Amino acid sequence: MPELRPLLVFGSSRGVGLELARLERAAGRPVSAMLRPRSEGGDLQDIGVGILRGDALSPPDIEQALARSSGSIDVVSTLGGRGEDGRFADDEGNINVIEAVKASGRAGRFVLVTSMGCGDMAPYRSERAIAAFGAVVDAKTRAEDRLRETDLDWTILRPGGLVSEPSTGNGLLTQNPKVHGFIHRADVALLAFRVLRDPATSGHAFAAVDGNRMNCETPVDPFPLA
Ligand SMILES: NC(=O)c1ccc[n+]([C@@H]2O[C@H](COP(=O)([O-])OP(=O)(O)OC[C@H]3O[C@@H](n4cnc5c(N)ncnc54)[C@H](OP(=O)(O)O)[C@@H]3O)[C@@H](O)[C@H]2O)c1
Repeated sequence: MPELRPLLVFGSSRGVGLELARLERAAGRPVSAMLRPRSEGGDLQDIGVGILRGDALSPPDIEQALARSSGSIDVVSTLGGRGEDGRFADDEGNINVIEAVKASGRAGRFVLVTSMGCGDMAPYRSERAIAAFGAVVDAKTRAEDRLRETDLDWTILRPGGLVSEPSTGNGLLTQNPKVHGFIHRADVALLAFRVLRDPATSGHAFAAVDGNRMNCETPVDPFPLA
């Protein structure tokens, strides 16, 4: 197997990003993470992840994080949430990362974790989902749209409702925009890990759900990950 590029993760203080960092370190890949100044990085340091401090709402912080390494890197962003001033990391933070990575000219793979309901899934959102998360999902769609406009080697993962339980191993990717359901954070991380190693996923957006916790009015064809 060819040597893997170093991986830089945005949004790995917890959840999917932290689980992915664990998987990648266990596989021996060099991993670094940009964390906000007040964010806890002990778990990441314990597994050998290089911590870079910065805020994704600040483009110079991202540029500095990128400048701390040389050569090609793979990038994953699971950024989400609102700053104290109401700005979304879901659009602004992710778009800042996309712009900086593109400008660096050093990108290998770029995996953006957004949400079920983004992009072509929007018409199939329930009224309840629109009321609860519509603004966040729309913000994530803006980041997806920016990524699609670039010439980066990207894949978009849109998880369903996230659950913090151990991996089931039943996570799957599908391009059926009507699917709904749940997935464990550890399984989204496992799917991202596999996507980073599967060139057939380049240039595609996938919903990510647990095969045993999904529903869909039309048949779901799981993408055949390598
Ligand atoms: N909750 C759900 O059911 C659900 C469903 C579908 C999709 N999603 C999305 O899936 C992704 C992963 O979710 P998750 O629950 O595993 O993680 P999460 O708890 O949403 O974590 C978000 C990460 O983004 C970081 N972050 C936020 N703003 C930042 C900024 N300005 N600069 C730098 N880092 C920033 C946070 O760091 P700090 O420690 O600094 O806050 C944290 O590490 C998220 O994008 C989430 O919105 C969630």
